[in-house]
Amino acid sequence: MKTLQVDLGARSYPIYIGQALLGQAALIKEHVKGRQVQVVTNKTVAPLYLEKTLAAFADFQTDKVILPDGEKYKNLKVLNKIFNTLLRQRFDRQTTLVALGGGVVGDMAGFAAACYQRGVPFIQIPTTLLAQVDSSVGGKTGVNHRLGKNMIGAFHQPQCVLIDINTLQTLDDRQLSAGLAEVIKYGLINDLEFFYWLESHADELLARDAQALSFAIARSCQDKGQIVAEDERESGRRALLNLGHTFGHAIETGLGYGRILHGEAVAIGMCLAAQFSMRLGWIDEADVSRLIALIEKMALPTRIPKRLKVEQMLKLMQVDKKVREGKIRLVLLQGLGNAITTDQYDPQLLRQTLAAAKLSARQTTWWPMQLF
Ligand code: NAD
Ligand code: GLY
Repeated sequence: MKTLQVDLGARSYPIYIGQALLGQAALIKEHVKGRQVQVVTNKTVAPLYLEKTLAAFADFQTDKVILPDGEKYKNLKVLNKIFNTLLRQRFDRQTTLVALGGGVVGDMAGFAAACYQRGVPFIQIPTTLLAQVDSSVGGKTGVNHRLGKNMIGAFHQPQCVLIDINTLQTLDDRQLSAGLAEVIKYGLINDLEFFYWLESHADELLARDAQALSFAIARSCQDKGQIVAEDERESGRRALLNLGHTFGHAIETGLGYGRILHGEAVAIGMCLAAQFSMRLGWIDEADVSRLIALIEKMALPTRIPKRLKVEQMLKLMQVDKKVREGKIRLVLLQGLGNAITTDQYDPQLLRQTLAAAKLSARQTTWWPMQLF
């Protein structure tokens, strides 16, 4: 097992990464403050991992909330299910919430923990690759609003993150690839060596080789943890973690939550960020092609779904937490491994980038976007 630390002073916490960690009660029990534990999961994950998780908390008063599965349920109405259970069962202020599932469950359980009785502790047990490399680390929690993704939320750090990579064996291929999009993101932001490693280990990752997965997860968590430690509340550097997200969130919202996976939308967004950076003269065409090739290799999409119009995309991109005084700030690339945040660009070039990405980018034949 590897243990990493997110350094946030009094709010510091460990990330445990290894195989068969779910059954290891001693590991998580020390992070439970009171006697009450509420496990939040969903209909898909519960039959797979809930029993094992509850067994680890055998000495505590436990209960569970099983949410419906899907991005379209990541909203305030469904969040209330968690509060209803907590209140009905008289869970007190010492309760620890445990998020068992992907990023949707993690974001919702974390947000419930941030709000319940003005804040109770929580533990992240992420079971998708995306949640293991990104959403479970860093304390961003929240839900979607009809008008914008992740627009209602809070910063609330977990007590610990427990990553059992064996849980990835039950994940379907499309979800695995979605997680790999966020992994590539770290290489692009500031870890060129990792980007090169990903190019040469793509096959092992897609084949779910435990060693390769473990390395990629640990490196991603380390990269993210460092940025979060520097800028917990995103007043500066943390915005880099949103590479591809302003485009991606617009695609997710535009298509309707759940039509495209978050990681898939981010993959397209990273291609757009690179293509726009190329128009601005900041990155070579060869490097953009190299990025697109890696994203395609990971079985991810690279272009905007046909039905989204350029003007619609631009309008949706305005609903972004990085917007200041109406100007869309974007994370762009000054070469591979060097991301920056800027609002200094010609909006016409942005329009042209979006238009070209719809018309010219390559597309794999199996891509489910064709269904839309
Ligand atoms: P998800 O939570 O919807 O999980 C994907 C699917 O996999 C779901 O159907 C889920 O039930 C299923 N699943 C989960 N674990 C499984 C397992 N081990 N075996 C089989 N099936 C399993 O999606 P996600 O990609 O994990 O997370 C996406 C969400 O995370 C988005 O809402 C996004 O906004 C959010 N996010 C948050 C942050 C953050 O910093 N808080 C960062 C990135 C993404
Ligand atoms: N996923 C972006 C962040 O955690 O800041």
